[in-house]
Parts: sequence; C-alpha cells; structure tokens
Amino acid sequence: MNLSVKHLLGIKDLSPQDIELIFTTADNFKEVINRPIKKVPSLRDTTIANLFFENSTRTKLSFELAEKRLSADVLNFSASGSSVSKGETLIDTVNNILAMKVDMVVMRHPNPGAAILLSKHIDATIINAGDGAHEHPTQALLDAYSIRQKYGEVKGKKVVIVGDILHSRVALSNIFCLQKLGAKVMVCGPTTLIPKYINSLNVKVEHNLKKALEWCDVANMLRIQLERQDIKYFPSLREYTMLYGLDKKLLDSLSKEITVMHPGPINRGVEITSDVADSKQSVILEQVENGVAVRMAVLYLLAANIG
Ligand code: CP
Repeated sequence: MNLSVKHLLGIKDLSPQDIELIFTTADNFKEVINRPIKKVPSLRDTTIANLFFENSTRTKLSFELAEKRLSADVLNFSASGSSVSKGETLIDTVNNILAMKVDMVVMRHPNPGAAILLSKHIDATIINAGDGAHEHPTQALLDAYSIRQKYGEVKGKKVVIVGDILHSRVALSNIFCLQKLGAKVMVCGPTTLIPKYINSLNVKVEHNLKKALEWCDVANMLRIQLERQDIKYFPSLREYTMLYGLDKKLLDSLSKEITVMHPGPINRGVEITSDVADSKQSVILEQVENGVAVRMAVLYLLAANIG
C-alpha cells in the first residue's frame, strides 16, 4: 500500500486510510527502535536535507534520528549562520541544496504556506515540519498515534486542546487528524486566543477549563506562543495560569482519570505544573518516543512514492 500524497504538507491532504497506513508502518518501526540493533537499510540510497528556518529541539532531533535509523544520508541546515542573512530567497537556498542531489526536504519555516510554496517550485519530496501558525502534520500524527497506543483506537475519544489555539499549528493539525480518525474535539482557552474561524471546523468551544477537563478523555495542553503575539491577548501570564493552567489539584478533582499530553516545549508553571507533567497520567515522553517511529513511517512511505 502507498500514501495518496507525494509530499506531507498538512494533515488536510491525508485520507483516514493514509493515516492508518502511517500508524501500522510506525508500529513496525517502533518494534525496530526498541531492538538492540535499531537501524534498518530501507533508505540507504536516499539523501534527506533538514532545513530549519525556525528554532526546534524535538522535531529536528526526531527527524534526524528517524532518518539515521533508516540509513539515509542526512544534511542539516539552520537559517542562523547561513547565507539567508545575506538576502538569499527560500527557493534559491533550497535549489542550491538540491543541486547536491537531495531526494527529500524536511522544512520548518516561520511563514504559513512555505512548504506548499516549496512543493510547487522544487523537484523533491517535501515534508512540512511546521509552517508558522498553519500546520505541523507529524506532531498531530504522533499525538494521535499516542492516543491510539493508550486507548487502542482514536475513534470516539474526546480530546480537548487547551491554550493558544489562535497561534498554534499543532492545534489545527490535531483538529484535522483527530476528526479524520473519528475523535470528538473541543478547544479551550480565553476568547482572544480562539480563532474566529473555529466555528467552521466543527469543534466544540469551552472557556471553562474545569468543564472542558470533565468532558474529555485526553487533554492536550499547549504553550502560549509569545513569539507569534504582536499584541497582548490576556492581562498577564499569572492570570492565564490561574484560569487555564493545569495543576495536580485540578487534575485530582476530576471525576475520572484523564490522559495529559503536551507537544513541547513545556513552560512549567504556566500551562502545566511540574507535578502534572511528570505524573503517571502524562504521556509527554511517550509522545516523543512515538515521534521517531511515526517520522520513520512518514519518510519510508513517502520515499516509496519518489518517481
Ligand atoms: N513540538 C515541537 O514542534 O517542538 P520543537 O519546536 O522543539 O520542534
């Protein structure tokens, strides 16, 4: 079986069958990365460039590890310290890298739509590793995969995404992915951080965190994306934490045990306290582990579509 897409630009383009194929392939790779010898030769003749025009810890390391576990040749590029500061365009930068015979490009970029633009001008397979506030498809895939691992299936599960929905590519990709898999999705946060277009996405909206947590099976806690905020959306971080921060007292007051997720980076003491992040209800580190297997699956399946 093959994916229906040549690039991974967003979850919006994937069918539920594509997502299931990624998950079953990731199951196999998860078994591989837990063996004493964690490497397979699947992408031995494939060269992959990781282009990061914006900061990253998890996504960058996770893709690099996934590529190395598949035996690909890997090029790493960061915008800081490159000729981007001398005025080179995105297309010129990438074309110069492709002249070195690169097959696949993994790109993070601050501009929404950057990966789509690249796919229209570049003859290589493009994987979007996060484009501004638009999409972060592999994060949504690993989040949904982690829910599937915890509950056996995603269908019918109730997931609330809490926090800065307005500036979050993780929220949008999660909404698309969870809905394609049959989950029910709610967003929760202050009115100013919920986008006006939310009504067109068929998700529930709740401004009271306690009510949202009582409704859900899984709470995905997002950080406040201060780097994307040009104006003040709430009076202070302290007030935000009082209304939308998840602490142990609130978690323990719920009538059932829920699962806590976070895509990282965590701002401990703001959207989530340390005792919640490190509690047995948290699957934050499982998400990171699953990220490698899911990215191996995406790379492997897209490489099979290179014509
Ligand atoms: N979750 C996520 O995208 O983290 P990084 O910004 O560290 O890659």
